[in-house]
Amino acid sequence: MSAPRERAAPATGEPATRRRFLTWLSRAFLGLWGLGAAGVVGAYLRAPEHREKVAGHLVSAGLLDDFKIGEGRLVRHGVSPFYVVRLDAERVVALSAVCTHVRCIVDFDRERRVLVCPCHDGRFDLAGNVLSGPPPRALPTYAVSVRAGEIFVHL
Ligand code: FES
Repeated sequence: MSAPRERAAPATGEPATRRRFLTWLSRAFLGLWGLGAAGVVGAYLRAPEHREKVAGHLVSAGLLDDFKIGEGRLVRHGVSPFYVVRLDAERVVALSAVCTHVRCIVDFDRERRVLVCPCHDGRFDLAGNVLSGPPPRALPTYAVSVRAGEIFVHL
């Protein structure tokens, strides 16, 4: 058998330059792919922490002084609208505005201090408990805090 022939670089050096360029280009693409893969892995590893922040975020519902006692106000928060109701001088409650029957948005009846669903007349008290109608379970409630006169709801 004969030894493999080595190619001699032509006098112009063009193939060696092209080979070097292709090697550099391959390494550059491999490097970019590696950075992308590292980004995907990093995002995957960070995801639970991010979900906790989303699940536990605070939503400002306005200033306490802007709510009259007994007033309930609908806060449109994406797919999770909720009511904030000022019970007395200090107590404020927040509860979901989405009926647990077939997800209609409930209304606040200030006179009776209840939440009424317009779809099938389901009724809830201000603790979210079902008073009457077809809703199968209570409305979810949320923790509320007042800081510097501003109402925050913990969703
Ligand atoms: S959707 Fe609310 S009672 Fe039916």
